[in-house]
Amino acid sequence: MKTSDLAQHFESLFGTQPRIFRAPGRVNLIGEHTDYNDGFVMPAALGFSTYVAIRPRPDRKLTIHSDEFPGNFEFDLDRLPETRVGAWCDYVLGVASILRQRGRELAGANLLVHGEVPIGAGLSSSAALEVSSALALLSLEGTNLPLPEVATLCRQAENNFVGAKVGIMDQFVSCMGKAGHAFLLDCRSLEFKFVPIPAGLRLVVCNTMVKHDLATGAYNTRREECEAGVRAFAKWDPSIRALRDVSVEFLDQREKDVPVTIWRRCSHVVRENQRTLDAARALTEGELARVGKLMRESHNSLRDLYEVSCRELDIMVDAAEDLPGYCGGRMTGGGFGGCTVNLVREENAEDFAKRIGERYREATGITPQVYLCSAEDGAQELR
Ligand code: GLA
Repeated sequence: MKTSDLAQHFESLFGTQPRIFRAPGRVNLIGEHTDYNDGFVMPAALGFSTYVAIRPRPDRKLTIHSDEFPGNFEFDLDRLPETRVGAWCDYVLGVASILRQRGRELAGANLLVHGEVPIGAGLSSSAALEVSSALALLSLEGTNLPLPEVATLCRQAENNFVGAKVGIMDQFVSCMGKAGHAFLLDCRSLEFKFVPIPAGLRLVVCNTMVKHDLATGAYNTRREECEAGVRAFAKWDPSIRALRDVSVEFLDQREKDVPVTIWRRCSHVVRENQRTLDAARALTEGELARVGKLMRESHNSLRDLYEVSCRELDIMVDAAEDLPGYCGGRMTGGGFGGCTVNLVREENAEDFAKRIGERYREATGITPQVYLCSAEDGAQELR
């Protein structure tokens, strides 16, 4: 939808012209299940965005509308619910509620949300909604919050209000992404570096169209298993506060000292951190074969050690291997369905999309969606 169409639609509902904010979804190139272990990730912001049109209103009401998502909601800003209400508006409410807890007054407002990030595909539609809402709500106050702080606030909304114990990756890249670049983030210090994606490469994102129920429960279990690993390792070395502090050598020396499942989970995270740093270097140097090898290792590790892949994701990754122009790929995001990400040479991208779609359909009976993407800019005000 064009910004002017959204503005017009807003005017037809509320009789005034709005300000409009946009925040993108993301795809993660490498560094999976490392963010909540204080590790490294390398995502990129995508061209799919969520848009929030907003205008203050004279009372203390917050109304939230959307054409794509069901329900129109109205809340009193001074009596916001304390936890989620179980609807999509939770991501907006969560942000409003955290802003109120941080002492922001917030003015009453009408919000119209337009979402283009595929839902439930692991491309962070929730982070896009949180970040675009945060920018919109903050605009009412006439103050700016630095974008890294907006990211932290949105993560807090998702952790504490919505109740999903996610890491910082999605909100951070939605705020800070840069066109043509991936984004190497240290999830402990929040220092980051842009890593140029070589010209002539496309990010081809393949949606398996499945999301297994396991996803949320297993995400929390994985987090707990990582924490159990940290507690065990800290007995030998008290300076270990997170898996970020564990070296490959230390991990291998302790293989027989911790339960096998815990060791395997930790082994994924510790080696994935190193792979992410190596991939950032290789991408910078244009060594695509090396990037591809690291992405494949990441996928295998998520499949075999971290056990968050699924049949459909494995089929999609394997289906890409010998297609012309393919440089590397793997599952992306939390797992148990959702998407794979593939680095594909520009001139082969369309053919790749067609052929991987056919292969996947043949193997699974499911018609996938395939998106030809590039890295785009992070959140901004549009008008
Ligand atoms: C989800 C979470 C992220 C991250 C990934 C796994 O997308 O929102 O914080 O933990 O899973 O890398």
